[in-house]
Amino acid sequence: MIILKNSREIELLKKANQIVVEAFKFAESRIRPGVRTDELDEQIGQFIVSCGGRPAFKGYNGYPSNVCISIDDQVVHGIPGARRLKEGEIVSLDIGVECQGYYGDAAKTYSIGEISKEKARLLAITRESLFKGIDKARQGNRLYDISHAIQVHVENAGFSVVRDLVGHGIGKELHEPPQIPNYGEPHRGPRLRDGMVLAIEPMVNMGGWEVRTESDRWTVVTSDGLPSAHFEHSVLITDHEPVILSSGI
Ligand code: MF3
Ligand code: CO
Repeated sequence: MIILKNSREIELLKKANQIVVEAFKFAESRIRPGVRTDELDEQIGQFIVSCGGRPAFKGYNGYPSNVCISIDDQVVHGIPGARRLKEGEIVSLDIGVECQGYYGDAAKTYSIGEISKEKARLLAITRESLFKGIDKARQGNRLYDISHAIQVHVENAGFSVVRDLVGHGIGKELHEPPQIPNYGEPHRGPRLRDGMVLAIEPMVNMGGWEVRTESDRWTVVTSDGLPSAHFEHSVLITDHEPVILSSGI
């Protein structure tokens, strides 16, 4: 069952997502060559708390850090550590915030200095695929219309969508039903309704879609070692246009 949110809950979801957006703005200037990812994690965590939020990933199923930072062939759930960002890398930052019992969640992949043409295209296509999906997040459509739109855009560009990980509903829990695959058949799945809030998050690989989890039990990497990108927004479905609650990252 997909939970519909009332106007009070939507205000609280906006508030949590606003802190997510502020945290991205805070992080943006600090994402540069030489910075250690655990320094970034610590600073972003403190910033979220200073905004009245709580870093939502910390402790979630035992996740050890405030945010996820995934570099190059790391797809998602990269655990910040002593590694320093380097020119030419792509870095996915995933931030979740809980505030007054409601959650916000968004992700973005950044380039560090100058990156290869093919990495730049991967970033552009992944971001565009998120917006193709969001454009289908409309009352009356079906859930997999979102999935299909993402898949078509990615595969037309010659890239592949990760199949083992999905987007999700979001509200009083970080992960609520439904699961939102980034591939699928159009005109299928549950009917979308005014008041649903969905975290849509395409993870796109330059090579094959296969991934594996590293021995830290969190970091998901591509099986072929090629780079991967990740963009995510929390989106409210209305009787008009989709509303991106995490807009501004
Ligand atoms: N945006 C990711 C997700 O929705 C981040 C979760 S990291 C975790 O799954 F640590 F919270 F699991
Ligand atoms: Co998410």
